[in-house]
Amino acid sequence: MEVKRLEYELPERLEDFDPFDFIEKATDFIRKNVKAKEKIAVSASGGVDSTTVLKLLSMQLNEEAIYPFFIDDGFRRIIRGEEEAEVVKKYLSKYSNFKVIDAKEKFFSTLKGLSNGEIKRKVFRDVYAQVSNEEISKIKADWIADGTIAPDIIETEGKVKTQHNVELPYKFKKLEILASLYKPHVRKVAKALELPDEIVYRIPCPGPAQLIRVVGEVNKEKLEIAKIATDIVEQKIEDYCKKIWGKEFKYNEKTGERIPFQMFGVALDNKMKKLSYFKGLNKMLNRTTYLEEGIKRPPEPLTMPVIWFETTTKSYLEWLKKRGKLTPYLFKISKNIWEDMGYPRVLYQVSGELRKDLPYLAAIRIVESKDATRAKPMEVEFEYLQKIGDEIRKKNPLVAAVAYDISTKPPATIEFE
Ligand code: XMP
Repeated sequence: MEVKRLEYELPERLEDFDPFDFIEKATDFIRKNVKAKEKIAVSASGGVDSTTVLKLLSMQLNEEAIYPFFIDDGFRRIIRGEEEAEVVKKYLSKYSNFKVIDAKEKFFSTLKGLSNGEIKRKVFRDVYAQVSNEEISKIKADWIADGTIAPDIIETEGKVKTQHNVELPYKFKKLEILASLYKPHVRKVAKALELPDEIVYRIPCPGPAQLIRVVGEVNKEKLEIAKIATDIVEQKIEDYCKKIWGKEFKYNEKTGERIPFQMFGVALDNKMKKLSYFKGLNKMLNRTTYLEEGIKRPPEPLTMPVIWFETTTKSYLEWLKKRGKLTPYLFKISKNIWEDMGYPRVLYQVSGELRKDLPYLAAIRIVESKDATRAKPMEVEFEYLQKIGDEIRKKNPLVAAVAYDISTKPPATIEFE
């Protein structure tokens, strides 16, 4: 596949990045590459990256030449109770050629039963390419453009993990306009292009979305849990931020940091078994610790077993309530576990109990991070997390218990797989 990338040299500091200079270079780049009469398909997700690409293209090309499509793969989020496809449709249908492709069944039937994170990603990417190729062929487009940004390329080339949008077996020429930029730069460009704030500051969502938040084997029940839990976490944390800061999130214009950086819900199988060789620390912390069953030690990359803390001691709960937030002290637990036992992922139970008659568990992940290379869990009042956990269980009666992920990156990752 032929790829045309706009190489743009970034200044060291974000504040020195001039979005208007970038916009000029980008429109020149489009003009030089896409000839009059050529058609360009755009893989649009409704996120800040691909929406910025669309806007840049529409500044340079005729509307009839641009064919944005949104692939509804069934793993998208629910946003405020509404399926993402509906939300995106509202914004992108102003492009006359915009189309939603319903590929839910195709994705699900291919992914059903797969359990390894990296395999799931690769299969997802292949189906994504197949559906896109079919669509681009139908359109008879000469080009495909999407929101690929620098970290997507670095992670795939560095074999960290397969991103769904890089090195795709596309049969068409690919235009990568944002390939030199990082998210904060894209946000500056989007702002300069006057895209609405809800798009400019949209939380990044991985290409395969809830697929990698369904830990282990993919099935419909777990997918539903991850989707509903993510919607609850997003709504509740936005309300929480409004309560403490007066706005839904904090954004630092100098560093490009958005707090929270990412937040979502995760579905897990309920297969925790009690850890007996963890007595010392358990005693100190006064509660029971579990390890996910059936996972090899040392953990394989990207299949992280979880350590689960069950908070049953009333006095400890009272103590936590008095301290208010889940303090850095609690995060230290995850550090100790990593150092002593080599387990990077540690979950702290906030709602329900590990009863055996219910098949699933859920986790809440809310992180602060500048650029996704390092991350720490956001401090949220324990009682508030309990409320979120209760709500997740109420809406998902097959979930026995809900925990807050207290792991940092490194050694853990932001996503569970
Ligand atoms: P991790 O989990 O490695 O994630 O700490 C770092 C950032 O990358 C996002 N991510 C992905 N994005 N396809 C994507 O487009 C993927 O397969 C994928 N996996 C992780 C993650 O959400 C975080 O922002």
